[in-house]
Amino acid sequence: MKNKIIVLSVIMAFVAFTSCKKEVSSNSGKVQTETYERKELSSEFDTTIDSLIAQMTIEEKIGMLHGNSMFTSGGVERLGIPELKMVDGPLGIREEISRNSWASAGLDYDFATYYPAAGSVAATWNPELSYTFGNSVGQEARARGKDMLLSPAINIVRTPLGGRTYEYFTEDPFLNKKLAVPFIVGVQDNDVMACVKHFAANNQETNRGTVDVLMDERTLREIYLPAFKAAVTEAHAYAIMGAYNKFRGEYLCENDYMLNKVLRDEWGFKGVVVSDWAAVHSTVKSLENGLDIEMGTPKPFNEFFLADKLILAAKEGKISENEIDKHVKRILRVLFQVKAMGDQDRVKGSIATEAHYQDAYKIAAEAIVLLKNDNNALPLKLDGVKSIAVIGNNATKKNALGGFGAGVKTKREVTPLEGLKNRLPESIKINYAEGYLERYDEKNKGKLGDITLNGPLSIDQLDPAKLQEAIEAAKNSDMAIVFAGSNRDYETEASDRRNLKLPFGQEELIKRVLEVNARTIVVIIAGAPFDIEEIGEKTDALVWSWFNGSEGGNALADVLLGKVNPSGKLPWTMPKKLEDSPAHATNSFPGDETVTYSEGILVGYRWFDTKNIEPLYPFGYGLSYTNFEFSDLKTDRESYNATDVIEVTFTLKNSGAVDGKEVTQLYISDPESQVEKAAQELKGFKKVFVKSGASENVTILLPAKELAYYDEVNKEWLVEPGIYNIKIGNSSRAIKAEVSITLN
Ligand code: BGC
Repeated sequence: MKNKIIVLSVIMAFVAFTSCKKEVSSNSGKVQTETYERKELSSEFDTTIDSLIAQMTIEEKIGMLHGNSMFTSGGVERLGIPELKMVDGPLGIREEISRNSWASAGLDYDFATYYPAAGSVAATWNPELSYTFGNSVGQEARARGKDMLLSPAINIVRTPLGGRTYEYFTEDPFLNKKLAVPFIVGVQDNDVMACVKHFAANNQETNRGTVDVLMDERTLREIYLPAFKAAVTEAHAYAIMGAYNKFRGEYLCENDYMLNKVLRDEWGFKGVVVSDWAAVHSTVKSLENGLDIEMGTPKPFNEFFLADKLILAAKEGKISENEIDKHVKRILRVLFQVKAMGDQDRVKGSIATEAHYQDAYKIAAEAIVLLKNDNNALPLKLDGVKSIAVIGNNATKKNALGGFGAGVKTKREVTPLEGLKNRLPESIKINYAEGYLERYDEKNKGKLGDITLNGPLSIDQLDPAKLQEAIEAAKNSDMAIVFAGSNRDYETEASDRRNLKLPFGQEELIKRVLEVNARTIVVIIAGAPFDIEEIGEKTDALVWSWFNGSEGGNALADVLLGKVNPSGKLPWTMPKKLEDSPAHATNSFPGDETVTYSEGILVGYRWFDTKNIEPLYPFGYGLSYTNFEFSDLKTDRESYNATDVIEVTFTLKNSGAVDGKEVTQLYISDPESQVEKAAQELKGFKKVFVKSGASENVTILLPAKELAYYDEVNKEWLVEPGIYNIKIGNSSRAIKAEVSITLN
């Protein structure tokens, strides 16, 4: 029985040094060190900053608090204060936008590397690759002269319909924070601020500009905030973006609780809060409640809430100059920190280099998920194969640009068809057929960005000529690969999808191709769950690729041909049907004026596992071309205190014929808890390379404080004493071994 509760003290990130490597060590002395250093915001230049502020007029100060172009906030030239230059974003460095509108600046030198979207990064389950991404894109930001990257986007995937699912990492708060931290450190290692977005509870596009999000405090703390907290207290992110929506009745860019109390007072955030574009609704209230910089979309910049209106408020005494100085000081601090000021030697950066394309390749290759592989259909056996039918619009569709969200103008996006051409022997003939057309019901599509309430409406009838062409190609080839899924017009910011159905008649196309060529495999290119149950049943092999960056096509071909052994795992649950997903099962999506997260803490697999609902493909799932066996699961002791680190060890054997990487996953169950808990929760993972026939001893260090839940009454993180089960496996539904420990 658990009647006593251990109170964990809140560990704030105030440490006496400015950079540190994170170390976790167990009782037996095993140490896990992360290879990168984190730099805290320094106060080294505060005296200079104070003297600069003392020389500024009120107009000059306020000029720094709002956009003076689409992606810069103002500087003060006479004092040597530059504009703060921002850039999107999640897929790489966005093309230059005009100063006064969303139109392209029309430059011919703003090409960049298109990196795999965040969903891909999450599917690698490899924090080092998240660092690689951050570091690489940070270099590119510098090469384009930027101070702040509007990334990473770390909102939790609450509904499979979310238009920005591909831009976000995962449905799981632990995986989320383990990927967010190295990404941010990587960016900031290059004298660029990471602007972590969208703070917070911005989990749907529907009504995102008005919807009031309601949830209980425990859900907020356990599911929606951990990655933001780690971004601040562990990665020392220099900037945070306030979201569009409301939270508990107040817009996030003027939300005293979230910005002042949680972010600054509790977590010790010292950086700047930047609004999402046109997410500000007030002047004095926004500033007093924690916003520092207002950014926005076309209207004269002096009409922004933090522009002329603020000057007037200051002159009328409605806000003190001290308050304004506080915000200016924060901005100057981050400018000094990234060496935009103070005659410091700053990273110069490089952009669209071969090395960066290779960074994109590494992420892409580890992100691809093998969902099904019956009869060893993959890797492709090319003996006797003279021709391959490559079918589907997605074989040639490019995704660096598209839809409403920020993309990348790139010189390199290797499509799946090009990847196959690059990698297949010349003797094999490729018979390409487009198969389906990307078509929308224009009447109901509306303008891009004006589709928030509806979601894109696709035309799902196949074009008879295109279908016939595909059938002929499949008939006349030794085997066929259908490239299906969605694209970045269909999955887009500002709109959630209507349903999980594959658009454009693709399901019908796949069935018709299978009828004429049984040796057909299917590759899905998409960033969010789709209903692929029937297709999965019909085809031997099913591969999931993503919006997978500049080298996506090459990485995919390497997986299909066996040069790369797939090691990606789903970062979210693929449901059998929408109603199985928590937000839909509880009928709490998308709400109207308000949305209440009725499923509470049971987001993603937490819901499926607790309610015993069979997913189509579970969280953490992905096959390999080899087999892995788990054995000898042990902990270094049987009982622990709440401040201990639990050392979990096991053996991972590669019993198959090829080398490979496995994502070992550690889940925790607390069967005796006095409060509601999910059936299991991810609390550790490690991606391990094992040679064919070899075994590796794997250690995962699990700080007992990770077992805490948030006690709403006392507003504390609590570790309940009692028995916990530690489970090891390679998906949330493939647990291979289990041990129990006791917490005292
Ligand atoms: C998006 C942000 C983005 C900003 C600037 C907004 O619509 O929500 O993620 O950084 O635009 O492009």
